[in-house]
Amino acid sequence: MKIGICPGSFDPVTLGHMDIITRACKIFDKVIVAVPVNPDKRASFTVEERMEMLRMATAGMNVEVDGVSGLLADYAREKNATAIVKGLRAMTDFEYEFQMALTNKKLNPEVETMFLPTSMENMFLSSSMVKQIAGFGGDISHFVPECLLDRINERLCRTVNE
Ligand code: PNS
Repeated sequence: MKIGICPGSFDPVTLGHMDIITRACKIFDKVIVAVPVNPDKRASFTVEERMEMLRMATAGMNVEVDGVSGLLADYAREKNATAIVKGLRAMTDFEYEFQMALTNKKLNPEVETMFLPTSMENMFLSSSMVKQIAGFGGDISHFVPECLLDRINERLCRTVNE
C-alpha cells in the first residue's frame, strides 16, 4: 500500500490544504495528514482542535489524521510512507520547502518529497491570511471548508477582539 504524508500546522485548515490533500488521495492508497504536536503558543487552535477539524473536513476520504511528536523523517519511516506531499504556492515557498525536502532526504533517504503546484485560486491563500480576514470580520467562506466556517469564525473573531 502506497502511503503519502501531508504534513502541516493547519492553523486552521484551508481550502488550499484541502486541495493538496484531495489530489494526494488520487495518487496514494492512503494519505496521512500529520500535525506536529509540539505546543505552539502562537497557534490559534490547539493541536487537538486542529486534528478534530481536519477529521471533519476529510470525512469519507481515504485519510488518517495523526499527530507527530518527533521528526517528520522518522515518522515517515515508522509509517513506511513513500512520500511527503507538500503544496507549492508562489516561488516564495520554494526556498524553505526545498531546504526541508533536502533535510528530510538526508535524515531518511527512503522517503521522497513531492511538490504539487497549488491551484490558481489558492495561489495566495494561507492560514495566516484567513486569520487576518476573520479577525477583522471579513468573509472567509471562500477560503475554509464549509463545515468548519462557523467554528473558525467564532474563534478567530474572538481572538482578535479580545
Ligand atoms: O504548515 P507548516 O507550518 O509550513 O508545516 C511545517 C511542518 C509541519 C511541515 C514542519 O514544521 C515539520 O516537518 N515539522 C516536524 C518536525 C521536523 O521534522 N522538522 C524538521 C523538518 S526539515
